[in-house]
Amino acid sequence: MIGFIGCGNMGSAMVEGIITGRLRKSVEIIVYDHDISRTESLKERFGLKVAADPLSLLRESSEVFLSVKPQEMGGLLQTIKPLLRPEHLLITVAAGLNISFYEKYLGKEQSVVRLMPNTPCLVGEGMIVVCSNKNVESWQEQLIIKLLKPLGKVIVLEEKHFDAVTALSGSGPAYIFLVIESLADGAVEMGLSRDVALMLASQTVFGAAKMCLDSGENPSILKNRITSPAGTTSAALMALEEGAVRSLFAKAVAAATHRSKEMGSNMDLNGN
Ligand SMILES: NC(=O)c1ccc[n+]([C@@H]2O[C@H](COP(=O)([O-])OP(=O)(O)OC[C@H]3O[C@@H](n4cnc5c(N)ncnc54)[C@H](OP(=O)(O)O)[C@@H]3O)[C@@H](O)[C@H]2O)c1
Repeated sequence: MIGFIGCGNMGSAMVEGIITGRLRKSVEIIVYDHDISRTESLKERFGLKVAADPLSLLRESSEVFLSVKPQEMGGLLQTIKPLLRPEHLLITVAAGLNISFYEKYLGKEQSVVRLMPNTPCLVGEGMIVVCSNKNVESWQEQLIIKLLKPLGKVIVLEEKHFDAVTALSGSGPAYIFLVIESLADGAVEMGLSRDVALMLASQTVFGAAKMCLDSGENPSILKNRITSPAGTTSAALMALEEGAVRSLFAKAVAAATHRSKEMGSNMDLNGN
């Protein structure tokens, strides 16, 4: 059985994705959260088992997702530490907490998988990056990847890349929301209604992203293909270059990477 401790935004999204995914008939899930309304809602929607406390959840499950805020993780680890058995695989989604954080507290023999998901997991189009410590067997990592597939794309990367991953796909939806908002603002200024402008901007971002993914072509080639000499796209691109938008986005990712590094190295077991 698969356990979930913490059923807020990310925990619920993962539970829902796993249940509505292909594996639903073969996977049993048990959930626990401080906030009973969250687990009751999952029980009502999906008929899941709700644990009365972490002990009963750990007794019944071998793969346990920890989906609480980073500052709540230390307290949760203190609670579960005496209840863990060697076969427990912990899967954490907490941003900024390195695997060494868990090993320091639970011991180097604890099996830990770290995930960096993003909010589009809520609509099945998320990006999830996975890394594991040396105790995790390849079949266990594959099982987690298979479970998460319905939430979006899943790839494995070394943990040394996780600050950049956090900065790009973790925080990235916020940058794209800003792009959508700004494009719509421009179109509203040109006379389109806000609703229409937002729909056009959102679908354009979605379609362009899908073209990149489906074709596998470099975005600069796709861009050049629709940029005719002295045309409208060229005029717009010149305006964007004047605003140094390219280097601004690159700087944004670099700033978020540095911040993620800083947060990770400063976090103690109390999440401070
Ligand atoms: N949301 C995102 O976009 C995103 C993206 C990447 C990673 N993450 C990571 O996902 C994790 C969860 O984020 P979230 O947005 O889902 O947070 P959230 O909505 O606040 O959910 C966390 C839930 O866990 C419960 N909880 C806290 N401590 C607990 C404990 N000891 N035992 C049982 N339940 C406990 C909380 O209950 P109370 O509120 O009653 O304490 C809350 O219901 C975070 O670590 C975050 O870094 C989130």
